[in-house]
Amino acid sequence: MAEHASISPVATEQGQKAPTQGTHLVADESDADSAIGDDDDDSIRQYRVENGRTYHSYKDGQYAYPNDEAEANRLDLQHHLYNLTLDGKLFLAPIKKDSQNVLDVGTGTGLWAIEFADEHPSAVVIGTDLSPIQPTFLPANVTFLVDDAKEPWVFKERFDFIHTRQLHCAVEEKKLMKQALRNLKPGGWLEMQETSTPIACDDGTMTPDHAVHKWTHFMLEASKRIGQSLDNPPKYAEWMQGVGFVNVQHVVYKWPCNPWPKDKKHKTLGLWTLVNAQDGVEGFTMAMFTRVLGWQPEEVQSFLVDVRKDLKNKSIHSYVTVNIVLGQRPE
Ligand SMILES: C[S@@+](CC[C@H](N)C(=O)[O-])C[C@H]1O[C@@H](n2cnc3c(N)ncnc32)[C@H](O)[C@@H]1O
Repeated sequence: MAEHASISPVATEQGQKAPTQGTHLVADESDADSAIGDDDDDSIRQYRVENGRTYHSYKDGQYAYPNDEAEANRLDLQHHLYNLTLDGKLFLAPIKKDSQNVLDVGTGTGLWAIEFADEHPSAVVIGTDLSPIQPTFLPANVTFLVDDAKEPWVFKERFDFIHTRQLHCAVEEKKLMKQALRNLKPGGWLEMQETSTPIACDDGTMTPDHAVHKWTHFMLEASKRIGQSLDNPPKYAEWMQGVGFVNVQHVVYKWPCNPWPKDKKHKTLGLWTLVNAQDGVEGFTMAMFTRVLGWQPEEVQSFLVDVRKDLKNKSIHSYVTVNIVLGQRPE
C-alpha cells in the first residue's frame, strides 16, 4: 500500500499549479422537485431536440451538453463518483459550520445542493441552472432558480460559500470568479470542482493512434473553437489569485478510465468512471462534434464505437484529471 500512498490528493502551495503527474497510479497486472414557480414561462421546458437528445431552451444553444433523463441519470452517477473521490465529503473548503447562505451555480439535478442542505440545516441553499431539471421534493432550505450564470448576478444576499462543479465549457470561468468574489461575504469561500481535458496517460499505453486519444483532442479543439477551453481547470488557482482571492489551493485527484489500477480505491473509481463515460460520451460529444466541428451524426456514432472500446480496454492506462480549486474572499 505504501507505494500507493500518493493516492491522497496533491495540494500545492498557495496559488501554484498542481503537478497533475504527482499521483502515480499503478496498473493491476493480474487482470489486464424544483422550486421553479408555477408562474414561470413554460417555454423554458420546451427543450431543443437534436439528434435524439434534448437540450436547454432558456438561452438556447449556449450549452452543448443535453438535459434529458439520460444526462440527468449520468449527473447523479457522477455525483456519486465525486463522493467516492472525496471520501464522502461534498467539498474541501474550510467553511464555517454555521454558514448561512450557500450558492451552487449550474446545479444540474441539484443533488449536491440537496445533500449540502441536509447536512447544514442552518444554511439556506440556492441552486441555479439554465435547465429546470431539479426534483420538486426538497429540504425546506433549498431553492432552485433558472438563471444564466453568464449574466450579471443580482442576488439579494451575499454568500458564505459558492460552489461550482463540472461547469467547464459552460461559463467563462474568470468572469465567474469575479462575480463570485463580489457576491461572497468577506471571508467566504469559492470552490470549483472540475475535470480537465485531455485524458492523460503516464506510461505510454495510450498512443495517438487510439480513438480515445483522438477523441479527447477533438473535444479540446472544439472547446477552444467556442472559446471555452477544456484544459482551463489547471489554471484556475492562478486565475483565482489574479482576481483577488486569498488562501488559494489546488487539489488534484485522478479518475482512471476503467478499473486498470491495482489499488482498491482507484479500481473502484475506475469502474464508476467507465460507467460515467460509457453513459455520457454521446452526450458530451454529439453537439460539440456536429455543431462545432461539422461532423455528421452518423460519423460521430461510428467513431464513438471505437472510443468506447478504448475506454474499457484495461491495457490502456488512461485517466481523467479532477481539479478541486478553492479560494477565500479577503476578510
Ligand atoms: C455537467 S452539468 C453539472 C451539474 C452539477 N453541477 C453537477 O455537478 O452535478 C453542467 C450544468 O451547468 C448548467 N449550465 C450550463 N451553462 C450554464 C449557465 N450559463 N448558467 C447556469 N447553468 C449553466 C447546465 O444546464 C448543466 O446542468
